[in-house]
Amino acid sequence: MAVEIKGHPKAQQTQDLTAELKPELKPDGLGTQPATWLFGYGSLIWKPELPYIHAQPARVKGYVRRFWQGSEDHRGTPEAPGRVVTLVPDAQEYCYGVAYLVSNVEIERTFAQLDHREKNGYTRLTLSLNLASEDTFANANVVRGITYIADDSNQAYLGHASTTQIAKQIFHSIGPSGTNTEYLLELAQALRDRNIDDPHVFTLEAEVQGLLHQG
Ligand code: SIN
Repeated sequence: MAVEIKGHPKAQQTQDLTAELKPELKPDGLGTQPATWLFGYGSLIWKPELPYIHAQPARVKGYVRRFWQGSEDHRGTPEAPGRVVTLVPDAQEYCYGVAYLVSNVEIERTFAQLDHREKNGYTRLTLSLNLASEDTFANANVVRGITYIADDSNQAYLGHASTTQIAKQIFHSIGPSGTNTEYLLELAQALRDRNIDDPHVFTLEAEVQGLLHQG
């Protein structure tokens, strides 16, 4: 069933892994069809646009969410990139987001769409997800899943900058998908709605709100 997606070297590898994942992806009460968990931590939280069977709170260990990835195709342009989130390694920390269970009947088409959407520097990574049980992680269910990550080797990567610099860049950036401010504010609201605390995101939100009020 594996298809090769041109220009996406990890596609073949991940689809083979999907087959490997099948036996452990039959969560209780969610049906018996083989399915794959996808972890979203950025726009995939507030704008998933994917055909999922079920979504639930999840976290990954060893990463934090940071506005360190340049966006040349969605929230900025090659000449004036915006900033969007990626996962940055941080051994003791967790990144909280949403896990989507996608039927394996849909998974190849879903990956093809997400590979296109996330093409500006992101590749797929297979990792362990902690799935919350009744909204707590005390008895988290651990499954294998896939996420999209933009690491520091991609050409659009921007890396660390001060909160003020990042906020200004977000405030001034716009691309084919809309303003960078919208991306930040939608993400902050989606995290708040899910009781996810993320000081990096909320501090940026406050700075950008300040810039908006200055006019
Ligand atoms: C994600 O949402 O999981 C990836 C980053 C993004 O598309 O904003």
